[in-house]
Amino acid sequence: MAFSATAQGEVKMSIWGHTADGVAVPIYTLTNGQIEVRVTAYGAYLVSVRTPDRTGKMADVVLGFDSFDTYTIKPNPYMGAIVGRYGNRIAGGKFTLDGKTYQVPVNNGPNALHGGTKGFDQYVWQAKEVPDGVEFTHVSPDGDMGFPGTLTATVRYTLKGSTLRIDFTAKTDKATVLNLTSHAYFNLHGDDQGNILDHKIEIAADRFTPVDATLIPTGELAPVAGTPLDFRKPEAIGARIDADNEQMKRGGGYDFNYVLNGKPGTLHLAAIVTDPVSGRKLTVETTEPGVQFYSGNFLDGSFTGRHGVKYEKHAAFCLETQHFPDSPNRANFPSTVLRPGETMHSTTTFTFGVAK
Ligand code: GLA
Repeated sequence: MAFSATAQGEVKMSIWGHTADGVAVPIYTLTNGQIEVRVTAYGAYLVSVRTPDRTGKMADVVLGFDSFDTYTIKPNPYMGAIVGRYGNRIAGGKFTLDGKTYQVPVNNGPNALHGGTKGFDQYVWQAKEVPDGVEFTHVSPDGDMGFPGTLTATVRYTLKGSTLRIDFTAKTDKATVLNLTSHAYFNLHGDDQGNILDHKIEIAADRFTPVDATLIPTGELAPVAGTPLDFRKPEAIGARIDADNEQMKRGGGYDFNYVLNGKPGTLHLAAIVTDPVSGRKLTVETTEPGVQFYSGNFLDGSFTGRHGVKYEKHAAFCLETQHFPDSPNRANFPSTVLRPGETMHSTTTFTFGVAK
């Protein structure tokens, strides 16, 4: 069941804080029916999503911080950020495009992760209110973090009924690569209510991209069948997380890109997650070819959330809808190249409900 909108959607803006150099950072509250969403222009972060459980009790189902300043502390693990210019990993931070080789910063072992040392999560985006939401725009200059082309990216958050929709667009003035995604961390119990190991997840993927020891895809599209990565039928996240399986050991839990069965470019199912305790249910749909399912393996208690609770290992899961990792180096993966004159469009929806 999805909630029906009982009230007119509303968007409110306030100034949440200021950056060290004095730039005002707006935060927007989107309300519609029973759901309340907060997003900020800093890093285009999804800060909060309050939804009811089966008894109507409200809780925040994404991890986040009270104060704007905490978001500026690195290594804040992209706690709800929009990551870019290239979400996920690029092997050795190196790729060749139109015969020219580019080196981007290496910030995750030997690889580039989430756009480099200063990714899109660390900028104040321009904000504009739109019907039912807000649109953020960020212009990344030619050569930013080593990537070619001036890239103008927009991220539009809208809340309609029980669906939070994120629309991404991008244009460039030189050929470049990009992979924009939301790095929201969900816990359907509530952000201060323990871990997500009992949540049941179903992922609409028959295949995944196996990784090497540094989490770079080997290039193979392997079946999930017969592995602990098989979520074609709903299963608890924790049921096989410690399985004696090489891929699982490399990920330290789930940290894998799934090859979605649906047709890229059209909205298709990525995953459905339910919490047996609260009854809350999250359905993720996307136009992207893949989703990185990450079980919060690197959360280690070093960040304290908005309710004073330390975010420990597995305190949340992420479903980062995306193109596959290391696509710039893999001709057999869907292309992440954007050329002048083209517009990249991508949509992901998060629908909140209660399981029967
Ligand atoms: C992604 C990566 C993970 C980790 C997190 C951020 O999910 O795949 O390995 O880097 O981002 O901590």
